[in-house]
Amino acid sequence: MTEYLIAPSILSADFAKLGAEVDSVIDAGADWVHFDVMDNHYVPNLTIGPLVCQALRDHGVTAPIDVHLMVEPVDRLIPDFADAGATAITFHPEASRHIDRSLQLVREHGCKAGLVFNPATPLSVLEWAIDKVDIVLLMSVNPGFGGQSFIPHVKQKIAAARALIDASGRDIRLEVDGGVKVDNIGELAALGADTFVAGSAIFGEQDYRAVIGAMRANIAAAVG
Ligand code: DX5
Ligand code: ZN
Repeated sequence: MTEYLIAPSILSADFAKLGAEVDSVIDAGADWVHFDVMDNHYVPNLTIGPLVCQALRDHGVTAPIDVHLMVEPVDRLIPDFADAGATAITFHPEASRHIDRSLQLVREHGCKAGLVFNPATPLSVLEWAIDKVDIVLLMSVNPGFGGQSFIPHVKQKIAAARALIDASGRDIRLEVDGGVKVDNIGELAALGADTFVAGSAIFGEQDYRAVIGAMRANIAAAVG
């Protein structure tokens, strides 16, 4: 039985009260904390680093922290995020000279390792990397900002990634990030996604529990 996970992206949270926001969204039924790291180099935006991840752990956050690195290069930051309490670290293959080495580095530091595919990036790198991957993260917007619209062709990519994962026989999460809402999450689950990042859809509402509940209900309705 597939376990479906909801990972609110704190990019759309109120950063002036981040600890309370994370507590609220976990209390409202979220599974993972999605932590978007941007460097104004790989992507045209600048966000948060290991100190903020450590601050959430020190605040008492025990939920998995899913660190999405949109930085280049990636290796320098991997040990820092592992030490700061990251559970998973995902990075974009374009941002690492040596993808296999970066995946190994994540795992050597005790974290789940993932590759992130931009909307136009082919899945081909998985052919020789899937044995070191715990998460495949498909971007359904171009990385850099919250609140963008879902790019429709990524639906076919979800199905393609699901087929690759199933053929590998490995225990790999298929995560989708960007433009995920209450009204499309069911379709994405039916296509084979099992982990859903949602920023504006959750933090843009007053009642986090109601949104997350509606998301779970639509997933259940779509996958039977
Ligand atoms: C975009 C980030 C996303 C973003 C998603 O580069 O990786 O995690 O916060 O935001 P929404 O859910 O609003 O599209
Ligand atoms: Zn993200």
